[in-house]
Amino acid sequence: MGLISVVTSGKGGAGKSTVTAGLGCALARLGRKALLVDGDAGLRSLDLMLGIGGSAVYDMADIFAGNCEPIRAIYPSPTCPNVFVMPAPVSLDQLASPRDMARLCRGLSRYYDDVLIDSPAGIGRSFETAVAGAAQAFVVTTPDMVCARDAQIVSHLLSGKNIPARLIINRLRPAPVLAGKMPDVDEIIDTAGLQLIGILPEDEAVAVANANGRPLPSHCHAAACFENIARRYLGEAVPLARLEKM
Ligand SMILES: Nc1ncnc2c1ncn2[C@@H]1O[C@H](COP(=O)(O)OP(=O)(O)OP(=O)(O)O)[C@@H](O)[C@H]1O
Ligand SMILES: [Mg+2]
Repeated sequence: MGLISVVTSGKGGAGKSTVTAGLGCALARLGRKALLVDGDAGLRSLDLMLGIGGSAVYDMADIFAGNCEPIRAIYPSPTCPNVFVMPAPVSLDQLASPRDMARLCRGLSRYYDDVLIDSPAGIGRSFETAVAGAAQAFVVTTPDMVCARDAQIVSHLLSGKNIPARLIINRLRPAPVLAGKMPDVDEIIDTAGLQLIGILPEDEAVAVANANGRPLPSHCHAAACFENIARRYLGEAVPLARLEKM
């Protein structure tokens, strides 16, 4: 059985979809078979980020409507071998119930090493559905206090559901942190109240990859950080890099 994880945040735009895609590709590069489930009904992104785009015919809603078997709503990424994507329903009205989502993810986890669910922004009904089947969570925050406090709120909700969570700080820019103009990593961790699993830099390569539905070039800084996070998730003791201590 593969491990089911949800990628979430309190505040929108923190980088949940970016992390889901980047971590999925990093895991695949390490030889794993990863299923990325887009839980953002009505505002899907993973299909575009993973190069599937308009070729998807079925989505999660079709499974629950009885229009297709789950496998027909899962698409291999043409840009990232061993990464598979289940697109979210096109409309929020088609949002699955938490119970259906949990059952679906548990069933699918038999066929993949890792199932990563990309959660929508906020803590409403879509959040409840996205986290329903997860055995663990990655909470994504940007390095600012508003986002970190929202991460703390999500962390409380997750702990109330007995879902262990670890923190990913995204879009860190070392220069303003070193100049004392932005909170440092320890302040963000303290505010979020979660154990850190890794840090991703602000990196133009991430924005370019997302915009074009391509995987991150393996030589870029963010790709190395994703690999570190993937290795830690798999249980390796990977020390924090210099950037991650700032
Ligand atoms: N480390 C990064 N470096 C540069 N750009 C980034 C980075 N992380 C995310 N971005 C950009 O920030 C924007 C928001 O990212 P993303 O869509 O992953 O956030 P999200 O949390 O999934 O948003 P939503 O809450 O709307 O689902 C995107 O344009 C993405 O390309
Ligand atoms: Mg998103």
